[in-house]
Amino acid sequence: MKKEGFSSRLGFVLAAAGSAVGLGNIWRFPYLTAKYGGGIFLLTYLVLMLTFGYALLISENNIGRMTGKSPIGAFRDLCAGKGFWGRIISPGGWINALVPLIILPYYCVIGGWVTKYMFAFATTPVADFGTPESSADYFTGFISSTGEPLIFFLVFVLITAAVVCFGVEKGIERFNKVLMPTLILLIIGICIYCMFLPGAGAGLKYYLMPDLQKFSYMTVVEAMGQLFFSLSIAMGIMITYGSYMRPQDDLVSSVNHVELFDTAVSFLAGLMIIPAVVAFGGEEAAGNAGPGLIFVIMPQVFGSFPGGQIVGLVFFILVLFAAATSAVSLLETNVHTLMQELKLSRSKALFFNLIEVAVIGAVTVLGYSIWKHIRPLVFFKGGENMDILDSLDFISNSILMPIGAVFTTLLVITVIGLKKFCDSIKSSDCPWHREFVYRFCMVVIVIPFLLIVLLNATGLLH
Ligand code: PHE
Repeated sequence: MKKEGFSSRLGFVLAAAGSAVGLGNIWRFPYLTAKYGGGIFLLTYLVLMLTFGYALLISENNIGRMTGKSPIGAFRDLCAGKGFWGRIISPGGWINALVPLIILPYYCVIGGWVTKYMFAFATTPVADFGTPESSADYFTGFISSTGEPLIFFLVFVLITAAVVCFGVEKGIERFNKVLMPTLILLIIGICIYCMFLPGAGAGLKYYLMPDLQKFSYMTVVEAMGQLFFSLSIAMGIMITYGSYMRPQDDLVSSVNHVELFDTAVSFLAGLMIIPAVVAFGGEEAAGNAGPGLIFVIMPQVFGSFPGGQIVGLVFFILVLFAAATSAVSLLETNVHTLMQELKLSRSKALFFNLIEVAVIGAVTVLGYSIWKHIRPLVFFKGGENMDILDSLDFISNSILMPIGAVFTTLLVITVIGLKKFCDSIKSSDCPWHREFVYRFCMVVIVIPFLLIVLLNATGLLH
């Protein structure tokens, strides 16, 4: 198979940003921030992003660029001939490759929720599901039924599969150039509107002023998981993207752009939703936030001004688009892994992956209706409150991704060698102002820090 490269640096930034910006920013970040104390979560997230998220993002891209392979092959090549230690580190590639297989099914479930709300705005007057009295019931009624969520889930899977199947990603990237900025402008407009809602001031304070008393281990664990999810790191995707880069490309500034862009979108999404939650329901509502947050709050925002129906429709169309581009990159990675490792043809790999997505996704959907009492992680501390979707999310983001990240760090430090690795990052002759931060993070913080998170995530420290 001929390996495609990016024709320009902008091509890389757009593709990586298209994968990075998605439901993680618009659906996941705001509800976690609301739930884990607002400002303190935001602060923790930003600090982790600038240190540790940055270090991993640049490491993964450079591993891809050095080897020209996707994660399993990259780990295998770099560990070859390194004896016993190499054999220990090499399976890290598999962990990275396993994560997107777990994420894609439930990502498509949420994608289905977005699709449903797009249809709702197109067909139902917002007054029916966008008032403070009706929005939560409407949402709960929807997810706890069996038919509709399954149908919308499948619609979203089909959209994603069609893009991958017909290979129209290039066309999608072209769309992206227009739709992404439009989405951001729309979010900024909604933010400004939400600032002026009565009671939004308290919400703004909740979002922007860190309250140290709300800090706990869970703030770090969840902020870290969010970082992985949002930047698409610790799951092989950035290794694959880096493998499309040419040696002369400026890795350093491309990575800066992706990091900045992704963080900006998350920050804005929080600014759009959190003041509104507090305005409508007070701080208590924010503390009780869960995965349904945007689906309960945004209709209320759109129901509160004339013309909100059409703005809501446009909003959900654009979010659907952002979600689809991310889902496509997840599916592409899975297909690629299956093709390379199991030597399958493209269509067989796609077929098997779709079956996997359909089965796990359907189980997840039913986890809100007929199987709503199932708690897969009941043996873990806190697991008794996690439904199927929460459990998949927890296993991938709080357990497997930190493990994958530890392997990546060990690969860089002990197998490749930090000096050699840094030299290859700089090979494009571009200045690298954050080299010190990078080295510091890789050597000092990353390993002990990740181990603490891991212990936490598995409940051993509780
Ligand atoms: N980063 C994407 C988001 O924020 C999700 C994603 C994860 C996409 C992994 C691709 C790979 O929604």
